[in-house]
Amino acid sequence: MSVNYCSVVCLLLCFVSLGFADYLSLDGNEWIATSFNKSIKVEAKVPGSIYSDLRRAQVLKQDLLYEKNDVNYRWVAYDNWTYERTFTVDSKLLDKKNVNLLANGIDTVSSVYINDQLIGKTDNQYIRYVWDVKKVLKSGQNTLRLAFQSAPLYAKQQSEDFLQKYNYKVIPDCPGPQQFGECHAPFIRKMPASFSWDWGPAFPTQGIWKPIGIEAFDSILIRDITIETIPDPKNASQWTLTVNAFVESAPNQQMDGIFDIKLDNNVLIDKQKQTIKSDGQGKAKMMIVIFITNIQIITWYPNGVSDNTQKLYQLNVQIDVNKEVSTQTKKIGFRTIKLVQNPVKPEGLTFFFEVNSQPFYAKGSNWVPTNVLTEDITPEYLRHVLGSAKRANMNMMRVWGGGVYESDLFYELADEYGIMIWQDFMFACSLYPAHNEFLDSVKNEVITQVRRIQHHPSLAIWTGNNENEIALAWWWNNVLNYFVDYRKLYVETIGKTVAAEDPTRPYLTSSPSNGLESQSENYTAKHPDDWRYGDTHYYSDDSHLWDWTTLQSPQDFPPVYRRVRCLTTYTHSECI
Ligand SMILES: *[C@@H]1O[C@H](CO)[C@@H](O)[C@H](O)[C@H]1NC(C)=O
Ligand SMILES: *[C@@H]1O[C@H](CO)[C@@H](O)[C@H](O)[C@H]1NC(C)=O
Ligand SMILES: *[C@@H]1O[C@H](CO)[C@@H](O)[C@H](O)[C@H]1NC(C)=O
Ligand SMILES: *[C@@H]1O[C@H](CO)[C@@H](O)[C@H](O)[C@H]1NC(C)=O
Repeated sequence: MSVNYCSVVCLLLCFVSLGFADYLSLDGNEWIATSFNKSIKVEAKVPGSIYSDLRRAQVLKQDLLYEKNDVNYRWVAYDNWTYERTFTVDSKLLDKKNVNLLANGIDTVSSVYINDQLIGKTDNQYIRYVWDVKKVLKSGQNTLRLAFQSAPLYAKQQSEDFLQKYNYKVIPDCPGPQQFGECHAPFIRKMPASFSWDWGPAFPTQGIWKPIGIEAFDSILIRDITIETIPDPKNASQWTLTVNAFVESAPNQQMDGIFDIKLDNNVLIDKQKQTIKSDGQGKAKMMIVIFITNIQIITWYPNGVSDNTQKLYQLNVQIDVNKEVSTQTKKIGFRTIKLVQNPVKPEGLTFFFEVNSQPFYAKGSNWVPTNVLTEDITPEYLRHVLGSAKRANMNMMRVWGGGVYESDLFYELADEYGIMIWQDFMFACSLYPAHNEFLDSVKNEVITQVRRIQHHPSLAIWTGNNENEIALAWWWNNVLNYFVDYRKLYVETIGKTVAAEDPTRPYLTSSPSNGLESQSENYTAKHPDDWRYGDTHYYSDDSHLWDWTTLQSPQDFPPVYRRVRCLTTYTHSECI
C-alpha cells in the first residue's frame, strides 16, 4: 500500500498539515484467474491478460506465435475467465470522503464485484472506469472480482441482438477464411486486430490491461489536464499557455481552491484563488490562461525540422482545497500545428502540415500494435522501435485505427524523438453500429483518450477511422443507413466530442479522406482516395519497395484516378 502523506513537511512545519489523495495499487501477481468451470486456476498478473497468465503457468506450453497456435489456443478466448484477488484496506483510507475503484483499462466485457457486491460493468477496452466503492469496502480484508465474458461470443451475441432490433446488418460479418480470425469485431470496443488481421493472428484475450487501484480523497482530485499553447502573433517567442484541469469531488460542491502552476522550476501561477463548483456527477473543469513573461520559451519541432529541438518542459499543476493537495505533472512542448489545404490548379487542394508556421515534408510510417498482447510490449522494445524511426529520419507516424490508443510511454517517446503522431480513433475496415448505447460508449472513449494524450506536442491530428470512407464508397454504398450511421459516428459523435475536448488540432473523419473535399460532400466522398485531395492509401504488395517509380503517378488521373487494385483480404477478393 502506498500512502502519500506529506509527513516530512509535517514534521518540519506541523502547523500546516497538508494531505494528499491515497492510492492503493492492486496491480501485481496477487491475482488468481479461473476458467468458467473452475477446471483451470492460475496465478495472474495485472496489468496483463489471460493468454500471458496461462503461458506463465505453463498451461499454454508453446510459443503463442508458433505455427497454428493462434487456432490451437483459441479455446482460451471462448472461455469466460474470472480475475480475483484479496487486499487489505486501512481504516484511515476509508475515513476519506471519496473512495473509488479506478480502472484504467479493462479488456473488455466484465462484471466487477467487491465483496460479492456488483459495483459496475465494463464493455469498452478504451474507457477508464471510476466507481464509488466507499460503501462496499470494509476495513481489513476485501475481495475484488472481475467476471469476464468471452469477447468473440459477446460480439456474436451483440450482432444477433442488433439484427433483431434494427433489421439490418453491420458488415462484414467475418474476416476472410485465410485469417482464421473471429467474427463481428465491430460489435465490441476492443482492439479490432485482436480478432485477426491480414497481417496478424487472432488472440482475443481477456484481462485487466492497465493499472487498477483504490483512490481516496476528501475534497478534490485532478483527473486530467489538457493544454493549449499559442504564440503572440507579433512576437513568436512570447507564448500563452492555457491549462484545463478536469477535477473531481463529491457532487454539487462549492469549494475554494488555491492553484499553483510551475513550468520546470519557474512559478507561473502562485497561490491563485478560484471557486470550484462541481456538477451533479462531482465534476468540474477549471481553465487557467497564463501569459508567460518570465521564461524564454524554446519551441518544439519534429525530428529534422527547423532547428530540430524537441524541447520539453515539465508542467506541474497543483490545487489545494482545505489543505488537501492534488497534483498532476506532464511534459509539454510549445508549438503550433496546422493542416494546410489550399486550392491548386487545375484542380485539387494542398495537404501538408505546418509546425510553428513552418511547412515540413512528412516522412514516416504506419504503426500497428507491435504485439497482439499489449503486456508483451516492453519499454525497451518501444524505445528501440521509435528510436529506429527517428534514426531513419522519420518525423511522422500514424497510429492505425485497428489497434489501441498507444501507451503513455509511446507518446512520451514520440515527444522526445520528434515523431509527430497522426492518431486514428479505433475503427477500421468495417461498418459500425450507431445506436445510442454504442455512441454513448464511443463518446466516453473519446473523452478518456483525448484527455489522456492531448498534452503531447507530438500529437498532430485526430482522424475518425482507418479506410471506412473508402469502404463505404467502394463496397457498401447500397444501403442508406450506412451513410447515416457513418455520419452519426464520425461526424456527430467523434467529431463533435473532439472539437469540444481539443480545439487545438485538426480532425478528419477518415484516414484517408479527401479532406475539405470529403467534408463538402457531407463527409462521404463519391471518389475517396483521390490523389488530388487529402491523403491516400496506396498498397502494392508485389512491387519493389526501393523503386519509387512503382508508386502510381498523380498524372494518371483524371480520367483514371485509381489504378487497378486487387483486394485479397477480408471478405473481398476482387479487383477494382
Ligand atoms: C472445463 O473447461 C475446460 C477449459 O475450457 C474444458 O477443456 C473442459 O472440457 C471443461 N470441463 C467440463 C467438465 O465441462
Ligand atoms: C461463457 O458465458 C456465456 C454467456 O455468458 C455462455 O453462453 C458460455 O457457455 C460460457 N462459456 C463457457 C466455456 O462456459
Ligand atoms: C519577444 O519576446 C521575447 C521573450 O519575451 C523578448 O526577449 C524579445 O525581446 C521580444 N522581441 C520583440 C521584438 O519584442
Ligand atoms: C448530411 O447528411 C445528414 C444525414 O446523415 C443530413 O441530415 C444532412 O442534411 C446532410 N447534409 C447535406 C448538406 O447534405
